[in-house]
Amino acid sequence: MFVVAHISDLHFNGSEHHRSRVESVLRYINSRAAGIDALIVTGDLVDRGTAAEYDEARDTLHSTLPTLITIGNHDDREHYNASFRREPGQAHANSALTLDGLQLLLVDSSIPGRPGGYIDDDDIDWLEDQLRTAEPGTPTLIAFHHPPVPVHMSYMDTIKQTGEERLARLVDRHPNIVAFLCGHIHSAAVTTFAGRPLCVAPGVSSTLNLPFEGPEVLNEGQPPGVAFHLIGDDNRIVTHFRAVMG
Ligand SMILES: [Fe+2]
Ligand SMILES: [Fe+2]
Repeated sequence: MFVVAHISDLHFNGSEHHRSRVESVLRYINSRAAGIDALIVTGDLVDRGTAAEYDEARDTLHSTLPTLITIGNHDDREHYNASFRREPGQAHANSALTLDGLQLLLVDSSIPGRPGGYIDDDDIDWLEDQLRTAEPGTPTLIAFHHPPVPVHMSYMDTIKQTGEERLARLVDRHPNIVAFLCGHIHSAAVTTFAGRPLCVAPGVSSTLNLPFEGPEVLNEGQPPGVAFHLIGDDNRIVTHFRAVMG
């Protein structure tokens, strides 16, 4: 069995509030690292995209686990690359990890200066290449920031991922895609996309209200959390969510 810990929407902004929520979740994950295979972070690492925020994120995000990161609409590619990859530039935040029998692909869905998401054609081609060159039939998880489907959150649904039909077509060619993973909506959620599970990690920095939960944007009472994706010998994904109380 493989176990992938999945966190999202850290939004480092220099505040103790946000940093301590990330630290709590990392403590929870890191203290159980012996039973976990990898950690993924699906974007919005920081809040305004400044170099100082990335320094804080880099100095806080420590784990002995293999860690893959992609970025979201609050991120800045240049500053992310300078801080996390030590290579300033506009390279997209794509990364791949093949464990012994599981492939993890993180792909950049951010559009500089825009809140919505879109995976560039070149990045769809990168996914295709990764899928084509993997051992045939390798179960594969594909992760990005923006959900490619509406989630009944009125503002978030206006800034979802578009162009998602190209992503859906990958499933036709590569039925070994087990599930899609994302963040962005600051709400642990599960739905489907292209006939596969779409699992949304909770927001570490905050949770957003559903329309019937209250008039405020933020649901202040909700703790940070993590999604654990478990993939067994049957290649089925089972996702367990954990709130972390401090
Ligand atoms: Fe976010
Ligand atoms: Fe976002």
